[in-house]
Amino acid sequence: MASLQEQIQTYEVEIKAFSPADATDLENFRIRFLGTKGIVKQLSGEMKSVPPELRKEAGQLLNAFKQLAEEKFESFKEQYQSGQSKGPAVDITLPGTPLPIGTRHPLRIVENEMVSIFEKLGFSVATGPEIEDDWHNFTSLNMPDHHPARDMQDTFYVSQNPDWVLRTHTSSVQARILETQPLPVRVICPGRVYRNETISARAHCFFHQCEGLYVDKNVSFADLKQTLYYFVTEMFGADTKVRFRPSYFPFTEPSAEMDISCTVCGGKGCNLCKHTGWVEILGCGMVHPNMLRNFGIDPDVYTGFAFGMGVERITQIKFQVNDLRLYSQNDVRFLRQFQAL
Ligand code: PHE
Repeated sequence: MASLQEQIQTYEVEIKAFSPADATDLENFRIRFLGTKGIVKQLSGEMKSVPPELRKEAGQLLNAFKQLAEEKFESFKEQYQSGQSKGPAVDITLPGTPLPIGTRHPLRIVENEMVSIFEKLGFSVATGPEIEDDWHNFTSLNMPDHHPARDMQDTFYVSQNPDWVLRTHTSSVQARILETQPLPVRVICPGRVYRNETISARAHCFFHQCEGLYVDKNVSFADLKQTLYYFVTEMFGADTKVRFRPSYFPFTEPSAEMDISCTVCGGKGCNLCKHTGWVEILGCGMVHPNMLRNFGIDPDVYTGFAFGMGVERITQIKFQVNDLRLYSQNDVRFLRQFQAL
């Protein structure tokens, strides 16, 4: 008969390799090694036949063996036994824990929609810095030093550098595009702009614009009108009417402002349209020859149009938000109300 030590060694290999497939397997393992007639008990019985001088060593071996079997059993016990008595640890029939999902900001919803409308017409998105230098925000846009049009907007200057401003309009991106991109260009430039205004329901020190620029050979005012008309019908519906009023911007000539028929009252007169039936939504015009020359473009070869609109304004019309401050107060009761249209 194999010595106690040899038997223990063989069983140890078996125990170490053991991995139950289910609760019955584990229970069989318990009975085989740790049961009242199990191997541990049986080997303890054999201690009697071990010569007294080797008993101490044999006892230690046997104890270690017993511990090994118990640890193995314990390591699976939780998995199988608790499973048996308490049912599955996870009730897979329960509804999942809801994840709080945010909503898009209304300005972002509208900006995304604007971009996707112009993308259909072949415009691509361009962006530029919010801290801008004088050249890109003013001078290159046909507004040299002391040009009265600089006072059309109240500018924030950056104290560290007298040449820097917080851009007052996204037209600065037009300048950057003409400076860097080969012609023809057809871009839409959404972004945040800053003006030194007292914050009220109707004015804010920062807001968002979306600028458009198209420069190529033979671009005409008719192209501008058709592009903007397409935008309006996509954004506000096919029944919406547009009208253009002559206006002035230093970087466009001729310049215009565009109104749409009031989408709230349909033209009958309401607060939004101040009882005129029309709502102003953007400024536009043909890119001024001086501006093209500033970027080395020959105005006798190339022409272009540009337009710029306020994202808050379009959002206000779409969602009838009557206080500009709501957009930046981060009140979730306000923010949760908007769905992509
Ligand atoms: N930059 C003008 C503004 O902020 C809007 C505009 C853009 C007008 C492009 C004409 C062409 O008011």
